[in-house]
Amino acid sequence: MGRVEGKVAIVTGGASGMGRADAQLLAAQGARVVVADLNEADGQAVAEGIGDAAVFMRLDVSDEQNWAAVVAQTVERFGQLDILVNNAGMIALGSVVDTDLDTWRRVNGVNSDGVFLGCKHAIPAMAASGGGSIVNMSSVAALHGQSFVAAYSASKGAVRALTKSVAMYCKEQKNGVRCNSIHPDGVKTPMVVKVATGQDSASQEQIDKLGEFTNMCEPEDVANLVLFLASEESRFINGAEMVIDNAATITPPVGIQ
Ligand SMILES: NC(=O)c1ccc[n+]([C@@H]2O[C@H](COP(=O)([O-])OP(=O)(O)OC[C@H]3O[C@@H](n4cnc5c(N)ncnc54)[C@H](O)[C@@H]3O)[C@@H](O)[C@H]2O)c1
Repeated sequence: MGRVEGKVAIVTGGASGMGRADAQLLAAQGARVVVADLNEADGQAVAEGIGDAAVFMRLDVSDEQNWAAVVAQTVERFGQLDILVNNAGMIALGSVVDTDLDTWRRVNGVNSDGVFLGCKHAIPAMAASGGGSIVNMSSVAALHGQSFVAAYSASKGAVRALTKSVAMYCKEQKNGVRCNSIHPDGVKTPMVVKVATGQDSASQEQIDKLGEFTNMCEPEDVANLVLFLASEESRFINGAEMVIDNAATITPPVGIQ
């Protein structure tokens, strides 16, 4: 008997990195999983690798019509929705003065709007299924100052605050839906590699600052926490912010100016 046996999950950003690890682990523990992503080729490959328990659906998390369609198709196909992992995200390097308004809107459009729309459209379907668990991917960037990712930090701060608002709403509604946020430090995924190698058009100075973060975990370490929050084992955990950073946020800075 798996830890999420019989449950139905949507994992956004499921084509890569942490989302892929989340989808694989949830399926291995008995869930049927919708791998939802913009990246059709890699998303299809993840779903096919999982097998009959998974299906790929194309989703741009910043698009409300996409969300309505994916939630409806999930319920149509699997009969219910129990778990939503709002994991899809993007990063853009830039301090507050280096960040142009278009970049700010693009990052917040995916990271913040995407999580809002996911919660908004999943909650009614989860409530109709008797309850559920929403896991929102934030970051340690929401908890302490990271000068080189202003838009990203703000978007993840919005995810942190929205999570608590959603948790309170669902508690008041007595709909059985819980909502928690996860705050990783560096995780070994393509996002970090792309940024570290400069493929995200970052300046060398920005890349050097990112390279100072060596406290990195594997996507599977985060997936274990996602699984716990998605399962009934965490049924009394609601509105919490779960930091997974090997004490990075409580460690005094070491001479970084
Ligand atoms: N890697 C880290 O160090 C780290 C640390 C803290 C938080 N996070 C967060 O974890 C989440 C997963 O990141 P990752 O490191 O696995 O990155 P990744 O780049 O490996 O994967 C991100 C996935 O999101 C998808 N995506 C991007 N925009 C999308 C959109 N508009 N609609 C649908 N899908 C979209 C991408 O196609 C990709 O498959 C992100 O929210 C990220 O901000 C990452």
